[in-house]
Amino acid sequence: MILKGNFLHTPTFGTVEVHRGGWLVTQGERIVGLYDALPEEYRDQPVMDWGDSLIIPAFHDLHIHAPQIVNRGIGYDEQLLPWLEQYTFPTEARFSDLDFATRVWKAFLNRLWESGTMGFAAFATVHKQAAWRLMELTEASGLRGLVGKVNMDRNAPDCLREDTQASLADTEELICRSREELKRTKYILTPRFVPSTTEQMMDGLGQLAQRYQLPVQSHLSENRGEVEWVAKLHPDIPTYTQVYEHFGLLPRGRTIMAHAIHLTQQEKELLREKEVILAHCPLSNLNLSSGIMPLRDDLERGLRCCVASDVAGGNTAQMARTVTATVQLSKVRWMQRPKETPLSLGEAFYLATRGSGEFLGDVGAFLPGFQFDALVIRPTALDALMERSPYERLEQFLYDGGEIVQRYCGGKAVEKPFPEI
Ligand code: GUN
Ligand code: FE
Repeated sequence: MILKGNFLHTPTFGTVEVHRGGWLVTQGERIVGLYDALPEEYRDQPVMDWGDSLIIPAFHDLHIHAPQIVNRGIGYDEQLLPWLEQYTFPTEARFSDLDFATRVWKAFLNRLWESGTMGFAAFATVHKQAAWRLMELTEASGLRGLVGKVNMDRNAPDCLREDTQASLADTEELICRSREELKRTKYILTPRFVPSTTEQMMDGLGQLAQRYQLPVQSHLSENRGEVEWVAKLHPDIPTYTQVYEHFGLLPRGRTIMAHAIHLTQQEKELLREKEVILAHCPLSNLNLSSGIMPLRDDLERGLRCCVASDVAGGNTAQMARTVTATVQLSKVRWMQRPKETPLSLGEAFYLATRGSGEFLGDVGAFLPGFQFDALVIRPTALDALMERSPYERLEQFLYDGGEIVQRYCGGKAVEKPFPEI
């Protein structure tokens, strides 16, 4: 495939590369190269000319709760723990109904597609059947997904609290079944967070992580009340991060931890050593008044970071909104602490494309050999009134939305996955 258009990507943190009127060549799923002039050998091949459109890497969202897509925007007068009790758990309990779950999952995948998110790591619910259905539908959608059934065997309402052994057995069944039956969609171990999982559960999941060499996703140090609660639950372990480590739930280079706001320096050192990717969720952290992650400082310390929506703590699945909120929240920190320089828009965009894509493989930038995941954004009538550089077009798309006219995932155009739900 040969595409022509205005290409913009962030191959490394801090760089923005633009190819105005450039050419991108793919073969199968992967990129051959991005050129300012089409190499001779491709001269007589058909070209998809996107004209004045902007072509950027698609978003990858490494922290989102699929069932909570129906709750987006709701309940933000509460903070984390009462919000979970009052809004999140009652909604998640409804996913014992597989018909309901199926309808929500389709709407969820449609919404990611609409928002330009082509890859994700999602929490399902505790229900095995519903989680399996989300895996199957993800596979059918053409998007790239890591999906996990939530594990939760303490501090949950009766209708969601699992029997530890049954939960571990269900988890192992999903791991094996997805390996046998699915090609692209992978299982990710998903303990909800420390207060929701007993020692036996964490121990069992740690063993599964080791036995099947699986990735892990969870929440870490989101809210001060939560951090204090973890300290009470595990008085013999010095920090929240070390609880996960103790149970083998920080497999090196294969762990996503959302939020990571209230951490000690010692915890940061451990997270760096374990190559944990920290998913910064600015919209969620604002909505639930959780705090502001010191993102600039963490990046300077060499921690792996990305940005994520955390629906429904986050009020929208649109990663464009997450990118701009990342910049805005970093400015709030800067106003309070002048040494912590704010993130540029290009830096925040990187964290939503290559920064997150890195966890999913060679994806998230237009580099030779990488999977081709991209969005084509056509200037609206309003946009077309002014001559703008590709970077300015990106700024307006991120801050105020735009018209995505084509989406590519793994070198293929992806249409809306479930037009009728
Ligand atoms: N901590 C444990 N569960 C959740 C959840 O569903 N959302 C958020 N934001 N934090 C959590
Ligand atoms: Fe979350």
